Amino acid sequence: MKFIESSRRVLVCQNRTCRKQGGAKVLAAFQKLSGSEVAVVASSCLGQCGSGPMVLVMPEEVWYCGLCPEEVAAVTEQHLRGGTPVKAMLYRKFHGSAN
Ligand code: FES
Repeated sequence: MKFIESSRRVLVCQNRTCRKQGGAKVLAAFQKLSGSEVAVVASSCLGQCGSGPMVLVMPEEVWYCGLCPEEVAAVTEQHLRGGTPVKAMLYRKFHGSAN
């Protein structure tokens, strides 16, 4: 049995509002593109309804909003693998200095 240590998690909201905004496809894209070093989790409401699909990267608490499936590759490559959040896609409410 292979033990996978995964301290980093990507929470993708699957509650009502985010699902209406395409959360299921964003979740599927993260599941497809992320490696075994990252745990991709379908989450309940993250408390930011209306700006979704909401994505929260833990433990660093980096928020993304309004992601579309086509943008997940950039987040996966640049942030999850490269360690640098994608500024243009950050949730400005919590990352006001983005851009
Ligand atoms: S439904 Fe996604 S943040 Fe509330």
